[in-house]
Amino acid sequence: MKKKLYTISLVFMGVVLLQFTNCNNPKTKIHPLTKSWEIAVPNQEIPEGLSSLSAKQCGACHTKHYEEWKLSTHAHAWTDLQFQAELKKESSPFMCINCHIPLQNQQEYIVEGLIDGDIYKPVKKPNPHFDQNLQQEGINCASCHVRNNAVIGTKGSTNAPHKTVKDADFLSEKLCISCHNANAVITPTLACSFETGDEWKSGPYFGKKNCISCHMESVDREIVPGFGVKPSHYHYFAGSGIPKLSTVETKILNGLAVYPSKLERFYSKMDTINYTLKVINEFAGHRLPTGDPERFFNSKFTIKNENDSVLLSKTERIGEHWEWYPEAKKMADNNLDPMEERKFTFSYHALEKGRLKLSVVITKHRLNKESADYNGLDENYPLFITVFDEEYIIDVK
Ligand code: HEC
Ligand code: HEC
Ligand code: HEC
Ligand code: HEC
Ligand code: HEC
Repeated sequence: MKKKLYTISLVFMGVVLLQFTNCNNPKTKIHPLTKSWEIAVPNQEIPEGLSSLSAKQCGACHTKHYEEWKLSTHAHAWTDLQFQAELKKESSPFMCINCHIPLQNQQEYIVEGLIDGDIYKPVKKPNPHFDQNLQQEGINCASCHVRNNAVIGTKGSTNAPHKTVKDADFLSEKLCISCHNANAVITPTLACSFETGDEWKSGPYFGKKNCISCHMESVDREIVPGFGVKPSHYHYFAGSGIPKLSTVETKILNGLAVYPSKLERFYSKMDTINYTLKVINEFAGHRLPTGDPERFFNSKFTIKNENDSVLLSKTERIGEHWEWYPEAKKMADNNLDPMEERKFTFSYHALEKGRLKLSVVITKHRLNKESADYNGLDENYPLFITVFDEEYIIDVK
């Protein structure tokens, strides 16, 4: 028994010694973290007047904000199956979690630096303030509202039972952009490419409407029941509206305005049926799609005869094309700038008499089927939603 203990402690000492020599090895250097997304928001104390940092607790008083946030993608930023699948890959470095669970309190380890500056060799120590329930909440209320152990607001309210600090500059679009704009090649085959902030800054909405005006619509209501109606903001953070879970209904924003051309009801044999679909990025303050490079829109045109046999079909895609091996590289990009329009034409030469059906369907996609399969996502994981669906009956005489 004694002997066993002895060996264990020897092994333990060996580890300590190894680490010690490691640190003193003149060839090994611990590099400090430098990039904003390498660093978590430091551990927060619970603000005075509260007993937890959890969204659930904020929701006990701010019931509407909580119900809305629960439906947002932010609330799934950790539990999302795709995120979890990607996180498990060896190619995913430690800092993947810093925008998805931004508070140090949500993270199991504190990262103090990188051995030799290598992002795959973080120096980690266990975090005594780690709270697993907070982790499950992803980008929770405290992620955006708690800093320096106080709740940050924009009003300077004196009614709140919690310590409150007024800081409108902090709670501006700068907060959104701190996560929604990253453009870095991390390793040759891993690139982070979310440029929504830059797209907005260089577009026509800059100085007029920002992330908050479009994604957190204003509403007058009670912020806490019984405290009177005040200017407030919806907390759905509605985006593309492609749900993360088939069981959660997400609010949808549509950026695309669709203008279909008119079709005649009757055509003659040997006529060419010409159909034009014009789409405009009328409502998004950035490119469309934006953010994750895997997103895309498909416009599918299909013409069928009376027996439902497909006579001709064509698909037009709006999105980016990337090559990931041997090097992450954007190959092409036909995303729509704000207010940019695109015209798609579909022509069919009617060789026979009879009834035809033309269907035009626009879908927006989070990721394609191959990528979903590659990540082992089950078949219930929602990949796309339909935003336009028309069928035209045409008689060829
Ligand atoms: C015990 C109830 C209660 C809890 C729990 C609570 N709040 Fe509040 N909060 C209030 C009240 C009351 C106000 C003031 C409402 C008013 O003036 O209409 C308020 C105000 C606010 C404001 C606006 C402050 C300003 O001046 O702009 C923010 C932001 C806020 N709370 C966020 C949070 C967050 C985040 C949490 C959780 C970490 C939280 N609250 C937990 C009751 C609560
Ligand atoms: C701490 C980092 C962080 C901050 C701050 C942040 N976001 Fe996000 N946001 C994310 C992440 C991560 C996701 C994606 C989560 C996922 O897909 O699982 C996301 C998703 C979204 C989506 C949904 C996209 C979709 O359709 O799926 C919208 C819209 C959005 N954020 C808007 C905002 C706005 C507006 C702000 C500022 C008020 C903001 N975000 C602040 C990290 C952040
Ligand atoms: C992604 C960041 C983000 C998250 C997550 C978030 N908020 Fe907010 N919240 C904001 C911003 C930004 C504002 C200020 C908007 C303004 O005044 O321009 C705000 C405003 C508020 C206000 C002031 C009243 C109002 O509606 O404008 C309250 C209260 C509040 N949030 C509570 C919460 C609660 C509770 C949660 C979690 C259930 C939460 N917030 C989650 C960004 C966030
Ligand atoms: C003029 C309004 C407007 C402004 C300003 C705006 N957005 Fe959007 N945003 C939209 C609309 C509309 C969509 C829905 C696009 C779609 O899927 O059809 C959207 C979608 C998104 C998405 C989902 C990604 C996708 O491809 O659908 C994210 C993330 C997002 N916005 C973040 C932001 C951030 C961050 C800012 C500020 C830098 C911002 N937005 C500014 C209107 C706006
Ligand atoms: C700079 C902040 C940031 C970092 C670091 C970050 N993400 Fe994200 N992540 C985001 C934002 C913002 C979104 C939402 C983008 C959108 O929907 O437009 C997102 C969305 C996602 C999604 C969902 C994509 C979708 O279409 O719904 C996955 C999966 C993901 N990230 C994985 C990762 C992995 C893996 C890493 C590490 C390599 C990582 N993230 C690092 C900010 C970040």
